[in-house]
Amino acid sequence: MTIPPEPSQQENAYFIDHENVAEMARLLDQDRLYTQAMGGLLPERANDFSGITHVLDVGCGPGGWAQELAFAHPELHITGIDISDTMIAYAQAQARVQHLSNAHFQVMDVQKGLGFPDASFDLVNARLLGFFSPSFWPHLMTDYVHLTRPAGLIRLAETEMSFSNSPAVEQEHSWFFRSLWRMGSSFSSNGERLCISAMLAPLLRQAGCINVQVQATALDWSYGTSAHAEMYKNMQVGFKLLEPFYLAAEVATQKEIDHTYTQMLDEMHSPSFAGLHLLVSASGQKPA
Ligand SMILES: C[S@@+](CC[C@H](N)C(=O)[O-])C[C@H]1O[C@@H](n2cnc3c(N)ncnc32)[C@H](O)[C@@H]1O
Repeated sequence: MTIPPEPSQQENAYFIDHENVAEMARLLDQDRLYTQAMGGLLPERANDFSGITHVLDVGCGPGGWAQELAFAHPELHITGIDISDTMIAYAQAQARVQHLSNAHFQVMDVQKGLGFPDASFDLVNARLLGFFSPSFWPHLMTDYVHLTRPAGLIRLAETEMSFSNSPAVEQEHSWFFRSLWRMGSSFSSNGERLCISAMLAPLLRQAGCINVQVQATALDWSYGTSAHAEMYKNMQVGFKLLEPFYLAAEVATQKEIDHTYTQMLDEMHSPSFAGLHLLVSASGQKPA
């Protein structure tokens, strides 16, 4: 096994500037796509929210998941937290104009601890936070368990990203995986994958959860599918915003990045393009 480097001491582990408005827009589109692809807001329980009143969405971004839930279930009280002032301001404004008085958003840095009393929530949802270091994850899980009431539910959802027949899409993914590994933010043994989705169930079990279940979704975004245009845009914006991360991790030069990025856009436009995006969720119950 290759020894991964020590986690970097960077202030925030997220690989894209969390105040970037283009990233916020990407997350809003991605939220709709992923929630639908995964089969709804809580597919692990067939979208059944009975017995659930208080919900926490950790790293909620601009609040797409939380707002959809608040709209669909006015009887629930939903709290979303995120480190980004920009995203929380957007989420608060959206909740206001949509009259979602049951959705509340606040700025909070999970790396400094989640500031809620123990057993405050029936459901803790945390999607796409796989960028935290392996050494931080157990602390995060301990916090989730403390915040969940006995017999409450913790839901983790992540992506292993895509695989495709496009050499440039593969190259971009490879740089992303390697950059995370080099920055100490990967569970992979060699930086060739993300590996976060394999960790979700073990992390829940190690934190003491029971009835742990895993669900995987493969989103076909090959040329000609309904998901192609959305995923194309996601890759176009996401990989552009990742360039400073690649350069900081020294996985490629700007010239290599520019060449591959242009090639990626061409290849994704080809009628022969085939791509599959993997989404995995795991849920577990805090013992009663
Ligand atoms: C990939 S996005 C996921 C957003 C949302 N959960 C979703 O599934 O659409 C990661 C989010 O984590 C937030 N984040 C990054 N570091 C954080 C931290 N230390 N504390 C709280 N939120 C953080 C980012 O601002 C960003 O909104």
